[in-house]
Amino acid sequence: MEIAKVAVVGLGTMGAGIAEVFARAGIGVVAIEADVAALNRGIGLLDASLSRAVSRGRLTAAEQAEIRGRVRPAADFGELAAADLAIEVVPERMEVKRQIFAELDRACRPDAILATNTSSLSVTAIAAASEHPGRVIGMHFFNPAPVMRLVEVVSTVVSGDGVADTVSALARRLGKTPVQVSDRAGFIANALLLPYLNHAVHLLETSYATGPDIDLAATAGVGLPMGPLALLDLIGLDTALSIMEVLHGEFGLPRYAPAPLLRRLADAGRTGRKAGRGIYQYGGSPGGADPHGGNGPDAATPDSVTLIGAGDDLEEDLASAMAAAGITVTANAADPSDLVLVAADAWRPVLPASLAAGRPQDTVGLHLTGKLGAGRLAEIVQTGVSSAAAVAAGTALAGKLGFTTVRAPDRPGFLVAALLYPHLADAVRMVQDGYATAADIDTAMTLGCGYPKGPFELIDAAGAAAVLAGLAAMHEGYGYPEFAPPPLLAEHAAAGITFGAAPRPAR
Ligand SMILES: NC(=O)c1ccc[n+]([C@@H]2O[C@H](COP(=O)([O-])OP(=O)(O)OC[C@H]3O[C@@H](n4cnc5c(N)ncnc54)[C@H](O)[C@@H]3O)[C@@H](O)[C@H]2O)c1
Repeated sequence: MEIAKVAVVGLGTMGAGIAEVFARAGIGVVAIEADVAALNRGIGLLDASLSRAVSRGRLTAAEQAEIRGRVRPAADFGELAAADLAIEVVPERMEVKRQIFAELDRACRPDAILATNTSSLSVTAIAAASEHPGRVIGMHFFNPAPVMRLVEVVSTVVSGDGVADTVSALARRLGKTPVQVSDRAGFIANALLLPYLNHAVHLLETSYATGPDIDLAATAGVGLPMGPLALLDLIGLDTALSIMEVLHGEFGLPRYAPAPLLRRLADAGRTGRKAGRGIYQYGGSPGGADPHGGNGPDAATPDSVTLIGAGDDLEEDLASAMAAAGITVTANAADPSDLVLVAADAWRPVLPASLAAGRPQDTVGLHLTGKLGAGRLAEIVQTGVSSAAAVAAGTALAGKLGFTTVRAPDRPGFLVAALLYPHLADAVRMVQDGYATAADIDTAMTLGCGYPKGPFELIDAAGAAAVLAGLAAMHEGYGYPEFAPPPLLAEHAAAGITFGAAPRPAR
Protein backbone atom coordinates (compact mmCIF):
# COMPACT_ATOMS: atom_id res chain seq x y z
CA MET A 1 0.00 0.00 0.00
CA GLU A 2 1.39 3.42 -1.01
CA ILE A 3 0.98 6.08 1.66
CA ALA A 4 0.25 9.36 -0.13
CA LYS A 5 -1.61 11.27 2.54
CA VAL A 6 -1.40 11.12 6.33
CA ALA A 7 -3.25 12.63 9.26
CA VAL A 8 -1.38 13.75 12.37
CA VAL A 9 -3.57 14.02 15.47
CA GLY A 10 -1.98 16.20 18.15
CA LEU A 11 0.58 18.84 17.17
CA GLY A 12 2.54 19.13 20.42
CA THR A 13 6.28 18.58 20.88
CA MET A 14 6.28 15.34 18.91
CA GLY A 15 3.28 15.80 16.59
CA ALA A 16 4.54 19.08 15.10
CA GLY A 17 7.90 17.43 14.40
CA ILE A 18 6.26 14.33 12.90
CA ALA A 19 4.06 16.50 10.64
CA GLU A 20 7.23 18.27 9.49
CA VAL A 21 8.95 14.96 8.75
CA PHE A 22 6.06 13.77 6.55
CA ALA A 23 5.75 17.10 4.73
CA ARG A 24 9.51 17.25 4.09
CA ALA A 25 9.23 13.82 2.45
CA GLY A 26 6.60 15.16 0.04
CA ILE A 27 3.62 13.59 1.81
CA GLY A 28 0.43 15.61 2.32
CA VAL A 29 -0.52 16.08 5.99
CA VAL A 30 -3.90 16.82 7.53
CA ALA A 31 -3.29 18.23 11.02
CA ILE A 32 -5.83 17.85 13.82
CA GLU A 33 -5.77 19.37 17.28
CA ALA A 34 -8.02 19.53 20.31
CA ASP A 35 -9.18 23.06 19.51
CA VAL A 36 -8.33 26.07 17.35
CA ALA A 37 -5.94 27.60 19.88
CA ALA A 38 -3.98 24.33 20.17
CA LEU A 39 -3.95 23.99 16.38
CA ASN A 40 -2.50 27.48 15.99
CA ARG A 41 0.09 26.72 18.65
CA GLY A 42 1.04 23.46 16.90
CA ILE A 43 1.32 25.07 13.47
CA GLY A 44 3.41 27.76 15.17
CA LEU A 45 5.83 25.03 16.39
CA LEU A 46 6.09 23.66 12.86
CA ASP A 47 6.66 27.13 11.37
CA ALA A 48 9.32 27.95 13.95
CA SER A 49 11.17 24.72 13.20
CA LEU A 50 11.09 25.33 9.43
CA SER A 51 12.21 28.96 9.90
CA ARG A 52 15.14 27.75 12.03
CA ALA A 53 16.13 25.40 9.20
CA VAL A 54 16.03 28.31 6.74
CA SER A 55 18.08 30.59 8.98
CA ARG A 56 20.67 27.82 9.37
CA GLY A 57 20.86 27.46 5.60
CA ARG A 58 19.44 23.91 5.63
CA LEU A 59 16.32 24.85 3.68
CA THR A 60 15.58 27.55 1.08
CA ALA A 61 12.63 29.88 1.51
CA ALA A 62 11.02 28.24 -1.54
CA GLU A 63 11.39 24.76 0.00
CA GLN A 64 9.96 26.05 3.27
CA ALA A 65 6.88 27.35 1.43
CA GLU A 66 6.50 24.06 -0.43
CA ILE A 67 6.77 21.96 2.76
CA ARG A 68 4.41 24.24 4.63
CA GLY A 69 1.94 24.04 1.72
CA ARG A 70 1.66 20.29 2.24
CA VAL A 71 0.33 20.70 5.80
CA ARG A 72 -3.36 21.46 6.00
CA PRO A 73 -4.83 22.33 9.39
CA ALA A 74 -8.21 20.62 9.74
CA ALA A 75 -11.15 21.71 11.82
CA ASP A 76 -12.25 18.19 12.81
CA PHE A 77 -11.97 14.46 12.20
CA GLY A 78 -14.44 14.74 9.28
CA GLU A 79 -11.49 15.70 7.06
CA LEU A 80 -9.62 12.42 7.54
CA ALA A 81 -11.36 10.32 4.87
CA ALA A 82 -8.50 10.86 2.39
CA ALA A 83 -5.74 9.75 4.78
CA ASP A 84 -3.94 6.46 4.07
CA LEU A 85 -2.43 6.53 7.54
CA ALA A 86 -3.36 8.47 10.68
CA ILE A 87 -0.90 8.82 13.55
CA GLU A 88 -2.02 9.73 17.04
CA VAL A 89 0.41 11.94 18.99
CA VAL A 90 -1.76 13.07 21.90
CA PRO A 91 -0.74 13.02 25.59
CA GLU A 92 0.38 9.71 27.10
CA ARG A 93 -2.94 8.83 28.77
CA MET A 94 -4.77 5.66 27.82
CA GLU A 95 -8.27 7.14 28.02
CA VAL A 96 -7.31 10.01 25.65
CA LYS A 97 -5.65 7.61 23.21
CA ARG A 98 -8.61 5.23 23.20
CA GLN A 99 -11.03 8.07 22.57
CA ILE A 100 -8.90 9.22 19.61
CA PHE A 101 -8.84 5.70 18.18
CA ALA A 102 -12.63 5.44 18.38
CA GLU A 103 -12.82 8.75 16.43
CA LEU A 104 -10.25 7.55 13.90
CA ASP A 105 -12.28 4.38 13.33
CA ARG A 106 -15.30 6.47 12.39
CA ALA A 107 -13.42 9.04 10.30
CA CYS A 108 -10.82 7.03 8.38
CA ARG A 109 -11.31 4.63 5.47
CA PRO A 110 -11.50 0.97 6.57
CA ASP A 111 -8.17 0.21 4.86
CA ALA A 112 -6.29 3.15 6.41
CA ILE A 113 -3.50 2.30 8.89
CA LEU A 114 -3.93 3.74 12.38
CA ALA A 115 -0.65 4.40 14.19
CA THR A 116 0.21 5.52 17.71
CA ASN A 117 3.38 7.30 18.80
CA THR A 118 3.02 6.08 22.37
CA SER A 119 6.29 5.58 24.25
CA SER A 120 5.12 3.40 27.08
CA LEU A 121 1.46 2.43 26.81
CA SER A 122 0.43 -0.92 25.44
CA VAL A 123 -0.18 -0.64 21.68
CA THR A 124 -2.36 -3.74 22.05
CA ALA A 125 -4.59 -2.04 24.62
CA ILE A 126 -4.86 1.01 22.34
CA ALA A 127 -5.68 -1.27 19.38
CA ALA A 128 -8.43 -2.89 21.43
CA ALA A 129 -10.27 0.46 21.30
CA SER A 130 -10.50 0.13 17.51
CA GLU A 131 -13.17 -1.79 15.62
CA HIS A 132 -10.34 -3.05 13.40
CA PRO A 133 -7.38 -3.74 15.71
CA GLY A 134 -5.49 -5.46 12.90
CA ARG A 135 -4.71 -2.12 11.29
CA VAL A 136 -3.39 -0.51 14.49
CA ILE A 137 0.38 -0.27 14.92
CA GLY A 138 2.99 1.60 16.92
CA MET A 139 5.09 4.09 14.97
CA HIS A 140 7.42 5.43 17.64
CA PHE A 141 9.46 8.49 16.68
CA PHE A 142 12.18 10.00 18.88
CA ASN A 143 12.58 13.57 20.03
CA PRO A 144 13.28 15.76 18.09
CA ALA A 145 11.44 13.90 15.33
CA PRO A 146 12.97 15.82 12.40
CA VAL A 147 16.48 14.94 13.65
CA MET A 148 16.41 11.49 15.24
CA ARG A 149 16.68 8.72 12.70
CA LEU A 150 15.05 5.84 14.56
CA VAL A 151 11.43 4.71 14.22
CA GLU A 152 10.34 1.70 16.27
CA VAL A 153 7.55 -0.08 14.38
CA VAL A 154 5.52 -1.96 16.97
CA SER A 155 3.24 -4.87 15.99
CA THR A 156 0.72 -6.43 18.32
CA VAL A 157 -0.50 -10.02 18.47
CA VAL A 158 -3.49 -8.93 16.37
CA SER A 159 -1.68 -6.76 13.79
CA GLY A 160 -2.61 -7.59 10.20
CA ASP A 161 -0.11 -9.10 7.78
CA GLY A 162 2.03 -6.55 6.03
CA VAL A 163 1.09 -3.55 8.20
CA ALA A 164 4.53 -3.44 9.88
CA ASP A 165 6.26 -3.76 6.50
CA THR A 166 4.17 -0.95 5.01
CA VAL A 167 4.96 1.32 7.95
CA SER A 168 8.66 0.37 7.83
CA ALA A 169 8.77 1.22 4.12
CA LEU A 170 7.12 4.54 4.92
CA ALA A 171 9.71 5.23 7.64
CA ARG A 172 12.47 4.62 5.10
CA ARG A 173 10.82 7.08 2.69
CA LEU A 174 10.99 9.61 5.52
CA GLY A 175 14.74 9.06 5.72
CA LYS A 176 14.40 7.12 8.98
CA THR A 177 15.65 3.69 9.96
CA PRO A 178 12.87 1.40 11.20
CA VAL A 179 13.32 -1.47 13.62
CA GLN A 180 10.40 -3.87 13.92
CA VAL A 181 9.50 -5.12 17.37
CA SER A 182 6.56 -6.65 19.16
CA ASP A 183 4.51 -4.85 21.79
CA ARG A 184 6.48 -4.95 25.04
CA ALA A 185 6.89 -2.13 27.56
CA GLY A 186 9.54 0.38 26.49
CA PHE A 187 10.11 -1.38 23.14
CA ILE A 188 13.91 -1.41 22.62
CA ALA A 189 15.28 2.05 23.31
CA ASN A 190 13.31 3.11 26.38
CA ALA A 191 13.45 -0.37 27.90
CA LEU A 192 17.25 -0.12 27.84
CA LEU A 193 17.76 3.60 28.39
CA LEU A 194 15.48 4.25 31.34
CA PRO A 195 16.79 1.48 33.66
CA TYR A 196 20.30 2.78 32.96
CA LEU A 197 19.24 6.31 33.94
CA ASN A 198 17.48 4.92 37.01
CA HIS A 199 20.65 3.03 37.94
CA ALA A 200 22.58 6.32 37.73
CA VAL A 201 20.11 7.87 40.20
CA HIS A 202 20.65 4.87 42.45
CA LEU A 203 24.43 5.45 42.37
CA LEU A 204 23.82 9.11 43.25
CA GLU A 205 21.40 8.48 46.08
CA THR A 206 23.66 5.88 47.68
CA SER A 207 26.54 8.41 47.54
CA TYR A 208 28.47 5.99 45.36
CA ALA A 209 29.67 9.02 43.38
CA THR A 210 28.74 12.66 42.86
CA GLY A 211 26.29 13.68 40.11
CA PRO A 212 28.93 15.43 37.97
CA ASP A 213 31.25 12.43 38.31
CA ILE A 214 28.50 10.00 37.26
CA ASP A 215 27.83 12.15 34.20
CA LEU A 216 31.55 12.43 33.40
CA ALA A 217 31.92 8.65 33.67
CA ALA A 218 29.34 8.33 30.87
CA THR A 219 30.66 11.10 28.64
CA ALA A 220 34.44 10.97 29.11
CA GLY A 221 34.53 7.30 30.15
CA VAL A 222 32.15 5.72 27.64
CA GLY A 223 31.88 8.46 25.00
CA LEU A 224 28.12 8.97 25.36
CA PRO A 225 26.88 12.39 24.25
CA MET A 226 25.36 13.25 27.61
CA GLY A 227 25.57 12.00 31.18
CA PRO A 228 22.58 10.03 32.51
CA LEU A 229 21.62 12.57 35.19
CA ALA A 230 21.77 15.54 32.82
CA LEU A 231 19.73 13.48 30.35
CA LEU A 232 17.13 12.72 33.01
CA ASP A 233 16.75 16.45 33.65
CA LEU A 234 16.19 16.92 29.92
CA ILE A 235 13.66 14.09 29.57
CA GLY A 236 11.85 15.16 32.74
CA LEU A 237 11.99 13.20 35.98
CA ASP A 238 8.20 12.82 35.98
CA THR A 239 8.24 11.29 32.48
CA ALA A 240 11.15 9.02 33.43
CA LEU A 241 9.36 7.93 36.61
CA SER A 242 6.19 7.02 34.75
CA ILE A 243 8.15 4.98 32.17
CA MET A 244 9.99 3.19 35.00
CA GLU A 245 6.64 2.39 36.62
CA VAL A 246 5.38 0.92 33.35
CA LEU A 247 8.57 -1.15 32.97
CA HIS A 248 8.37 -2.31 36.58
CA GLY A 249 4.70 -3.21 36.14
CA GLU A 250 5.51 -5.23 33.02
CA PHE A 251 8.69 -7.02 34.08
CA GLY A 252 8.51 -6.88 37.88
CA LEU A 253 12.30 -7.16 38.32
CA PRO A 254 14.17 -5.11 40.97
CA ARG A 255 16.19 -3.41 38.22
CA TYR A 256 12.99 -1.66 37.10
CA ALA A 257 11.93 -0.38 40.52
CA PRO A 258 12.15 3.42 40.34
CA ALA A 259 15.01 4.75 42.49
CA PRO A 260 13.47 6.41 45.57
CA LEU A 261 15.33 9.67 44.84
CA LEU A 262 13.78 9.78 41.34
CA ARG A 263 10.32 9.49 42.85
CA ARG A 264 11.02 12.03 45.61
CA LEU A 265 12.39 14.64 43.19
CA ALA A 266 9.42 14.14 40.85
CA ASP A 267 7.01 14.36 43.82
CA ALA A 268 8.68 17.59 44.90
CA GLY A 269 8.14 19.09 41.46
CA ARG A 270 11.87 18.99 40.72
CA THR A 271 11.14 17.52 37.32
CA GLY A 272 14.23 18.75 35.49
CA ARG A 273 15.06 21.53 33.07
CA LYS A 274 11.42 22.39 32.45
CA ALA A 275 11.03 23.18 36.18
CA GLY A 276 14.44 24.87 36.44
CA ARG A 277 15.43 22.19 38.96
CA GLY A 278 15.82 18.45 38.82
CA ILE A 279 18.95 16.53 39.67
CA TYR A 280 20.76 19.79 38.91
CA GLN A 281 19.68 23.38 39.23
CA TYR A 282 19.35 25.51 36.10
CA GLY A 283 19.47 29.23 35.50
CA GLY A 284 21.26 31.62 37.80
CA SER A 285 22.82 29.13 40.17
CA PRO A 286 26.52 28.93 39.38
CA GLY A 287 27.82 25.45 38.71
CA GLY A 288 24.47 23.79 39.26
CA ALA A 289 23.48 22.09 42.48
CA ASP A 290 24.45 18.52 43.10
CA PRO A 291 22.47 17.05 46.00
CA HIS A 292 25.60 15.23 47.14
CA GLY A 293 28.09 18.04 46.78
CA GLY A 294 31.09 18.39 44.51
CA ASN A 295 34.59 17.04 44.73
CA GLY A 296 35.84 19.45 47.35
CA PRO A 297 38.66 21.97 47.12
CA ASP A 298 41.57 21.56 44.72
CA ALA A 299 44.80 20.23 46.22
CA ALA A 300 48.40 20.74 45.21
CA THR A 301 50.03 18.15 42.95
CA PRO A 302 52.28 15.86 45.00
CA ASP A 303 56.05 16.32 44.48
CA SER A 304 56.82 12.65 45.07
CA VAL A 305 54.79 9.52 44.42
CA THR A 306 55.23 5.86 45.29
CA LEU A 307 53.84 3.94 42.34
CA ILE A 308 52.56 0.42 42.96
CA GLY A 309 51.67 -1.45 39.81
CA ALA A 310 51.65 -4.78 38.13
CA GLY A 311 54.92 -4.12 36.30
CA ASP A 312 52.99 -3.74 33.06
CA ASP A 313 52.91 -1.11 30.30
CA LEU A 314 50.46 0.99 32.28
CA GLU A 315 52.82 1.24 35.22
CA GLU A 316 55.72 2.15 32.94
CA ASP A 317 53.66 4.76 31.08
CA LEU A 318 52.47 6.31 34.32
CA ALA A 319 55.97 6.39 35.74
CA SER A 320 57.37 8.13 32.68
CA ALA A 321 54.46 10.59 32.48
CA MET A 322 55.00 11.54 36.13
CA ALA A 323 58.75 11.87 35.68
CA ALA A 324 58.14 14.09 32.64
CA ALA A 325 55.88 16.25 34.84
CA GLY A 326 58.79 16.74 37.28
CA ILE A 327 57.44 14.36 39.94
CA THR A 328 59.83 12.11 41.82
CA VAL A 329 58.67 8.53 41.37
CA THR A 330 59.65 5.59 43.52
CA ALA A 331 58.50 2.00 43.39
CA ASN A 332 59.68 1.23 46.91
CA ALA A 333 56.94 1.50 49.51
CA ALA A 334 59.56 2.17 52.21
CA ASP A 335 60.74 5.40 50.48
CA PRO A 336 59.11 8.57 51.76
CA SER A 337 56.65 10.18 49.34
CA ASP A 338 53.64 12.52 49.34
CA LEU A 339 51.28 9.93 47.85
CA VAL A 340 51.08 6.20 47.24
CA LEU A 341 49.40 5.44 43.94
CA VAL A 342 48.14 1.98 42.99
CA ALA A 343 47.81 1.51 39.22
CA ALA A 344 44.47 -0.23 39.46
CA ASP A 345 42.60 -2.90 37.56
CA ALA A 346 38.80 -2.46 37.60
CA TRP A 347 38.18 -5.95 38.90
CA ARG A 348 40.79 -6.11 41.68
CA PRO A 349 40.27 -4.08 44.83
CA VAL A 350 42.88 -1.45 45.61
CA LEU A 351 42.78 -2.03 49.38
CA PRO A 352 45.06 -5.14 49.58
CA ALA A 353 47.85 -3.37 47.66
CA SER A 354 47.24 -0.27 49.72
CA LEU A 355 47.59 -2.22 52.99
CA ALA A 356 50.67 -4.03 51.69
CA ALA A 357 52.33 -0.68 50.98
CA GLY A 358 52.02 0.10 54.69
CA ARG A 359 50.50 3.61 54.37
CA PRO A 360 46.88 2.92 53.42
CA GLN A 361 45.66 6.39 54.44
CA ASP A 362 48.12 7.97 51.96
CA THR A 363 47.09 5.61 49.16
CA VAL A 364 44.58 5.88 46.33
CA GLY A 365 44.03 3.84 43.19
CA LEU A 366 44.27 5.24 39.69
CA HIS A 367 42.29 3.42 37.04
CA LEU A 368 42.39 4.38 33.38
CA THR A 369 39.27 3.50 31.43
CA GLY A 370 40.69 3.79 27.92
CA LYS A 371 39.54 0.38 26.84
CA LEU A 372 35.88 1.13 27.29
CA GLY A 373 35.46 4.20 25.20
CA ALA A 374 36.80 7.32 23.73
CA GLY A 375 38.02 9.56 26.54
CA ARG A 376 41.14 9.68 28.63
CA LEU A 377 39.36 9.37 31.91
CA ALA A 378 41.07 8.46 35.18
CA GLU A 379 39.12 7.04 38.07
CA ILE A 380 40.60 8.02 41.43
CA VAL A 381 39.79 5.08 43.64
CA GLN A 382 39.21 5.81 47.28
CA THR A 383 39.52 2.85 49.65
CA GLY A 384 37.77 2.75 53.00
CA VAL A 385 40.94 4.15 54.62
CA SER A 386 42.19 6.64 51.99
CA SER A 387 42.40 10.09 53.54
CA ALA A 388 40.62 13.05 51.94
CA ALA A 389 44.07 14.61 51.42
CA ALA A 390 45.29 11.55 49.49
CA VAL A 391 42.16 11.59 47.29
CA ALA A 392 42.65 15.30 46.59
CA ALA A 393 46.35 14.78 45.83
CA GLY A 394 45.56 11.84 43.51
CA THR A 395 42.96 13.93 41.70
CA ALA A 396 45.41 16.83 41.30
CA LEU A 397 48.11 14.47 40.05
CA ALA A 398 45.85 12.88 37.42
CA GLY A 399 44.73 16.36 36.34
CA LYS A 400 48.38 17.38 35.93
CA LEU A 401 48.97 14.29 33.77
CA GLY A 402 46.16 15.45 31.48
CA PHE A 403 43.38 13.14 32.57
CA THR A 404 39.78 14.05 33.27
CA THR A 405 39.10 12.62 36.70
CA VAL A 406 36.21 11.10 38.57
CA ARG A 407 36.22 9.68 42.06
CA ALA A 408 35.02 6.19 42.75
CA PRO A 409 34.83 3.90 45.76
CA ASP A 410 36.97 0.75 45.88
CA ARG A 411 34.13 -1.45 44.68
CA PRO A 412 33.89 -3.79 41.66
CA GLY A 413 33.84 -1.81 38.44
CA PHE A 414 34.74 1.45 40.22
CA LEU A 415 32.50 4.02 38.51
CA VAL A 416 32.50 3.63 34.72
CA ALA A 417 31.94 -0.12 34.60
CA ALA A 418 29.61 -0.03 37.61
CA LEU A 419 27.43 2.37 35.63
CA LEU A 420 27.81 0.77 32.20
CA TYR A 421 28.03 -3.00 32.64
CA PRO A 422 24.52 -3.57 34.05
CA HIS A 423 23.24 -1.58 31.02
CA LEU A 424 25.20 -3.89 28.70
CA ALA A 425 23.79 -6.90 30.56
CA ASP A 426 20.24 -5.58 29.97
CA ALA A 427 20.99 -5.39 26.24
CA VAL A 428 22.31 -8.97 26.21
CA ARG A 429 19.22 -10.16 28.09
CA MET A 430 17.01 -8.48 25.49
CA VAL A 431 18.68 -10.59 22.76
CA GLN A 432 18.60 -13.66 25.01
CA ASP A 433 14.83 -13.13 25.47
CA GLY A 434 14.42 -13.21 21.69
CA TYR A 435 12.94 -9.70 21.73
CA ALA A 436 15.44 -8.02 19.38
CA THR A 437 18.65 -8.75 17.54
CA ALA A 438 22.00 -7.30 18.57
CA ALA A 439 22.02 -5.31 15.32
CA ASP A 440 18.57 -3.83 15.95
CA ILE A 441 19.51 -2.92 19.50
CA ASP A 442 22.67 -1.15 18.33
CA THR A 443 20.60 0.64 15.68
CA ALA A 444 18.01 1.69 18.26
CA MET A 445 20.55 3.02 20.75
CA THR A 446 22.65 4.87 18.19
CA LEU A 447 19.86 6.36 16.08
CA GLY A 448 17.28 6.77 18.86
CA CYS A 449 19.49 7.79 21.79
CA GLY A 450 22.53 9.26 20.02
CA TYR A 451 25.00 6.67 21.32
CA PRO A 452 28.20 6.80 19.24
CA LYS A 453 28.43 3.02 19.61
CA GLY A 454 25.67 0.55 20.40
CA PRO A 455 25.84 -1.73 23.46
CA PHE A 456 27.05 -4.68 21.39
CA GLU A 457 29.79 -2.67 19.73
CA LEU A 458 30.91 -1.71 23.24
CA ILE A 459 30.81 -5.34 24.39
CA ASP A 460 32.69 -6.51 21.30
CA ALA A 461 35.29 -3.78 21.81
CA ALA A 462 35.85 -4.66 25.49
CA GLY A 463 35.51 -8.42 24.84
CA ALA A 464 32.62 -10.56 26.05
CA ALA A 465 34.97 -12.29 28.52
CA ALA A 466 35.96 -8.98 30.12
CA VAL A 467 32.35 -7.82 30.45
CA LEU A 468 31.41 -11.23 31.82
CA ALA A 469 34.22 -11.13 34.40
CA GLY A 470 33.20 -7.63 35.38
CA LEU A 471 29.56 -8.51 35.86
CA ALA A 472 30.53 -11.64 37.78
CA ALA A 473 32.67 -9.53 40.13
CA MET A 474 29.81 -7.05 40.61
CA HIS A 475 27.35 -9.87 41.17
CA GLU A 476 29.61 -11.50 43.72
CA GLY A 477 30.29 -8.17 45.40
CA TYR A 478 26.70 -7.01 45.71
CA GLY A 479 24.51 -10.07 45.24
CA TYR A 480 22.00 -8.05 43.21
CA PRO A 481 20.27 -10.24 40.61
CA GLU A 482 20.56 -7.51 37.94
CA PHE A 483 24.35 -7.94 37.97
CA ALA A 484 24.10 -11.67 37.23
CA PRO A 485 25.89 -12.24 33.94
CA PRO A 486 23.38 -13.37 31.29
CA PRO A 487 24.07 -16.92 30.02
CA LEU A 488 24.22 -15.63 26.44
CA LEU A 489 27.18 -13.43 27.41
CA ALA A 490 28.87 -16.40 29.10
CA GLU A 491 28.36 -18.44 25.91
CA HIS A 492 29.97 -15.72 23.78
CA ALA A 493 32.86 -15.42 26.22
CA ALA A 494 33.39 -19.21 26.32
CA ALA A 495 33.25 -19.51 22.55
CA GLY A 496 35.41 -16.41 22.08
CA ILE A 497 32.95 -14.93 19.62
CA THR A 498 31.67 -11.41 19.15
CA PHE A 499 28.05 -10.35 18.88
CA GLY A 500 29.08 -9.02 15.48
CA ALA A 501 26.26 -6.51 15.28
CA ALA A 502 25.75 -5.84 11.58
CA PRO A 503 27.06 -2.50 10.33
CA ARG A 504 24.53 0.24 10.78
CA PRO A 505 23.36 2.52 8.01
CA ALA A 506 25.34 5.77 7.88
CA ARG A 507 24.05 8.34 10.35
N1 LIG B 1 8.12 14.22 24.20
C1 LIG B 1 8.90 13.21 23.87
O1 LIG B 1 10.13 13.26 24.03
C2 LIG B 1 8.30 11.98 23.25
C3 LIG B 1 9.13 11.12 22.52
C4 LIG B 1 8.56 9.99 21.89
C5 LIG B 1 7.20 9.75 22.02
N2 LIG B 1 6.42 10.61 22.76
C6 LIG B 1 4.98 10.32 22.82
O2 LIG B 1 4.30 11.18 21.94
C7 LIG B 1 3.00 11.49 22.45
C8 LIG B 1 2.82 12.99 22.56
O3 LIG B 1 3.83 13.51 23.40
P1 LIG B 1 4.24 15.05 23.34
O4 LIG B 1 5.45 15.18 24.17
O5 LIG B 1 4.24 15.53 21.94
O6 LIG B 1 2.99 15.70 24.12
P2 LIG B 1 2.47 17.20 24.06
O7 LIG B 1 1.69 17.40 25.30
O8 LIG B 1 3.58 18.13 23.73
O9 LIG B 1 1.47 17.20 22.82
C9 LIG B 1 0.22 16.55 22.81
C10 LIG B 1 -0.71 17.35 21.93
O10 LIG B 1 -1.92 16.63 21.79
C11 LIG B 1 -2.97 17.58 21.76
N3 LIG B 1 -4.25 16.94 22.09
C12 LIG B 1 -4.74 16.64 23.32
N4 LIG B 1 -5.97 16.08 23.19
C13 LIG B 1 -6.26 16.04 21.86
C14 LIG B 1 -7.37 15.61 21.11
N5 LIG B 1 -8.43 15.09 21.71
N6 LIG B 1 -7.33 15.73 19.77
C15 LIG B 1 -6.26 16.25 19.15
N7 LIG B 1 -5.16 16.70 19.83
C16 LIG B 1 -5.17 16.59 21.16
C17 LIG B 1 -2.55 18.63 22.77
O11 LIG B 1 -3.23 19.86 22.54
C18 LIG B 1 -1.06 18.73 22.50
O12 LIG B 1 -0.74 19.72 21.55
C19 LIG B 1 2.90 10.75 23.77
O13 LIG B 1 2.28 9.50 23.54
C20 LIG B 1 4.34 10.54 24.17
O14 LIG B 1 4.53 9.43 25.00
C21 LIG B 1 6.93 11.73 23.35
